[in-house]
Amino acid sequence: MLKGKHIVLGISGGIAAYKSVFLLRLLVKAGAEVQVVITPNGKEFITPVTLSSLSGKPAISEFFTANTGEWHSHVDLGLWADLMIIAPATASTIAKMANGVADNMLVTSYLSTKAHVMVAPAMDLDMWAHPSTRRNIATLVADGVEIISPAAGELASHLVGKGRMEEPQNILKAIESYFDTLHPAVPPALNGKKVIVTAGPTHEKIDPVRFIGNYSSGKMGFEIARECARRGADVTLVCGPVALPTPNPDIERFDVTSALEMYETTRSFVQSADIAIFAAAVADYRPEVCRESKIKREKQQEPVIKLVKNPDIAAECGRGKRKNQFFVGFALETDNELENAQEKLVKKNLDMIVLNSLRDQGAGFQCDTNKITIVTADDTVSFPLKSKTDVASDVVDRIILELNKGK
Ligand code: PMT
Repeated sequence: MLKGKHIVLGISGGIAAYKSVFLLRLLVKAGAEVQVVITPNGKEFITPVTLSSLSGKPAISEFFTANTGEWHSHVDLGLWADLMIIAPATASTIAKMANGVADNMLVTSYLSTKAHVMVAPAMDLDMWAHPSTRRNIATLVADGVEIISPAAGELASHLVGKGRMEEPQNILKAIESYFDTLHPAVPPALNGKKVIVTAGPTHEKIDPVRFIGNYSSGKMGFEIARECARRGADVTLVCGPVALPTPNPDIERFDVTSALEMYETTRSFVQSADIAIFAAAVADYRPEVCRESKIKREKQQEPVIKLVKNPDIAAECGRGKRKNQFFVGFALETDNELENAQEKLVKKNLDMIVLNSLRDQGAGFQCDTNKITIVTADDTVSFPLKSKTDVASDVVDRIILELNKGK
C-alpha cells in the first residue's frame, strides 16, 4: 500500500503516455497522492484534463499557469515528493536528465528533488540501442536513478534490449518494493529461511520443432517466489519456459525446459531448503525419443508417439523430506477437487496443498487471478477470487502460521 506517499509522476512525449493513465490510476488506488508533471510534448499524446481528473490535482506542465500567472515551484515539488517516477521517459528526456538540461518543468523538478527517482524508458528499438542513449542511461544509473524496464537486466552488461515501456502493474510493484525496503510493512518472517519454488510449464520435445507442453504462464509461481523474498527468504526459483522477468533481483533463478531438467535442478537444491513450493505444471509424460529431424508430413504415415512417465518432482522430493522441512504442492483439478487434493497431500508426503480448479472462472492458468483452497492434514480453508499477488500472500501467511505451530 502507498497510503500517504507523495509521488511525482513525470510524463514525457511518447506513444506509451497512454499507459501512464493506467499507472496513475493504480497509484491513486494504492493510496498515493500523485502530482503529475507533463512535458509540452507529453500533452500532444494525452490531455492534462484526463490526468487531473484522475489525480485530483491540476497536472503541471509550465513554470507559470498561463491565465493566473501562478508560479510552480520545482524546488517545493522536489521536496514534497517521496518518490519521482518518469513514465514514459523518452530518449530526449533521458538525455536532458543525464546532462542537466533544465528547459522544462519535469527535468527541473528532477534536478531539484531529493527523493528516489525511477525512470521507465519508452522508445523504439534503434533509439534504445543507440550509443548515446546507452551512455545517458548509464549516467542516470550512476546518478542513483532506478531504471524500470523489461530490459533492465541487460543494462548492467550494456547490451541492447527492447525500448518498450514496462507495464504499469510492474512499475507499481517496483514502487511498492522500494517503499517496502524503506519501511518493511511485513515483518520478515522468513528471514534466514531457504525457499525453493518451481514455476511454469515444462516442454517435452517431440522433434527439433515440436513439443508437448501446457498453458502455465509461471505467474502463480513467480508471485509466490516474490512474496517469499519480500518476507526475507533466500529464494531459488526453478522455472520452465516462461516470458516473465525475475520478480526480485535477490532471487536466484534457474531456467529449464523439460521435466527431467526441472527434476535435476530442483533435486540439487531441495536438500538444503527449509521450504519447497511446487507451483510448476510439470508434464507427467514425455516422448520416449526426441526425433533428431523434423517429422515430415509427406513421408510419414500418421506418426505414433510413445510416451514414458516423467519423475514426479514433488513426490520424489517428498520422499526424502526431513522432519524440519515444509513442502507445499499445488493441485490443478477439473473434478473431485478436494478428494484429489487430499490424496496428493498424502501420496506426495507434503505438508500443504494449494488447490485450484479449472472449473472456477478466473482461476488456474494464464490469468492474473486465482481462486484457491488450502488443504492441510487437519484443515481446509477456501479463499475468494483474488489477484495472484494476493493469493501468494495468503499462501505464504499460511506457511508461516504452520511453521509457527511446529515451534
Ligand atoms: O503458471 P500460471 O499460468 O500462473 O498457472 C498457475 C498453475 C495453474 C500452473 C498453478 O496454480 C498450479 O496449479 N500448479 C500445479 C499444476 C499441476 O501440475 O498440478 P498437478 O495436480 O498435476 O500436480 C500436483 C503437484 O505435483 C504440483 O505441485 C506439481 O508441481 C507437482 N508435480 C506434478 C507432476 C510432476 N511430474 N512433478 C511434479 O512436481
